[in-house]
Amino acid sequence: MDQYIIKGGNPLVGEVVIGGAKNAALGILAAAIMTDGECHIDNMPDVRDTNVLLQAMEQIGARIVRKGPNEVVISGQSIDGSGDLIVDNEYIRKIRASYYLIGALLGKYKKAQVVLPGGCDIGSRPIDQHIKGFEALGAKVEISRGMIIAEAEELRGTHIYLDVVSVGATINIMMAASLARGNTIIENAAKEPHIVDVANFLNSMGANIKGAGTDVIRIKGVEKFHNTSYSIIPDQIEAGTFMTAAVATKGDIMIRNVIPKHLEAISAKLIEIGAEVDEFDDAVRVVASKRLKSTQIKTLPYPGFPTDMQPQMAVALALSKGTSVITESIFENRFRYVDELTKMGANIKTEGNTAIIMGVERYTGARMSAPDLRAGAALVIAALAADGYSTIDQIGYILRGYEKFDEKLRSLGGLIEIADTEREVQKFKLRIG
Ligand code: UD1
Repeated sequence: MDQYIIKGGNPLVGEVVIGGAKNAALGILAAAIMTDGECHIDNMPDVRDTNVLLQAMEQIGARIVRKGPNEVVISGQSIDGSGDLIVDNEYIRKIRASYYLIGALLGKYKKAQVVLPGGCDIGSRPIDQHIKGFEALGAKVEISRGMIIAEAEELRGTHIYLDVVSVGATINIMMAASLARGNTIIENAAKEPHIVDVANFLNSMGANIKGAGTDVIRIKGVEKFHNTSYSIIPDQIEAGTFMTAAVATKGDIMIRNVIPKHLEAISAKLIEIGAEVDEFDDAVRVVASKRLKSTQIKTLPYPGFPTDMQPQMAVALALSKGTSVITESIFENRFRYVDELTKMGANIKTEGNTAIIMGVERYTGARMSAPDLRAGAALVIAALAADGYSTIDQIGYILRGYEKFDEKLRSLGGLIEIADTEREVQKFKLRIG
């Protein structure tokens, strides 16, 4: 019954070091099998999603050597390309990024069979744009018995216009196109920092990709890739989560190993509601000493406000003065944390893709369940800000994307522990008092 037991009420104060970006890592790890050489990857977050992906890569024959929790050497040479290349196991079915193995395998071996992606239940998550891209490159793609089956005689460069701005489709098409014959242009591409990071990684292996980070990406296909060493960028969403934790608990956190530019949309909103955000070369410090103000937020593709920060921000706004409005424009089912937060005394009404948040002065501890990864992290922050004890179960979701979350929060003065049994919960309460 993996759960967090938390006693709230302490402002979070101190320093925290941010790990590598999960969503960049998932693209980069998958792309690493595209060379027969070795990829030495550093600053990899040691979280469930990356570990599940590495395990699936190992199952299709890739050689994975862990040099440490955040460092791995990957070689795709040992994959038997004459076989069917089937990616399926009970764990990979639950993650979203399994789809990156289609782009990677299709690019290198011109074939792949990958189980349909799972991931957090935050709304319908079609993959039509991925398929449209693979087909435009010359692949035949079929969905059968829960598998996506893609195959091509050869991949040919082409011009692709994405109908929606999709992180996953942009990365997937970029991977496959980088080993296609000729030139590819992706228009209306996503611009997230992890798109740039995956492109930089592919380029470090010998790909020729220009324009990543803008909405037009140009790719000159090359024949093959070579060895590389690469360090993954810091996780924008992990950093943002600690920024909102500082605000919700009225704390003072120095958040190190970040790229402040990637955090601008979050910093701007926190400053607007009255928090103090100081930017340094590779750190931000967030301080909130009083009750903050309300605001309006609409989630948008980068550089807009990230949907992955929407629940954490809602937790901070639900404690602010006045009425805030959040419009979720990326995923339609991303307010499932509202019922849980209501148990703590939050006053939030949702209507379609809008949440209207009437700020309350305080939360009170409650028994809650994490509905998905980011919403789970948001509930942890709420519990740390609340009066009294809370428990949060289903923390497996949180462990998919946050490395040593409880340990990092404890180092900031948060009273939080993982408890497997009711007895451990009681022991925590006796100890903390
Ligand atoms: C990625 C992130 C996720 C983040 C999201 C948006 C990973 C593993 N996950 O998810 O954390 O919340 O970006 O920043 O990196 N869409 C289609 N057709 C498609 C693909 C997407 O209609 O083929 C729609 C989706 O339903 C959604 C929007 O496009 O409304 C954006 O989705 P997308 O950027 O693809 O998200 P993911 O790659 O799934």
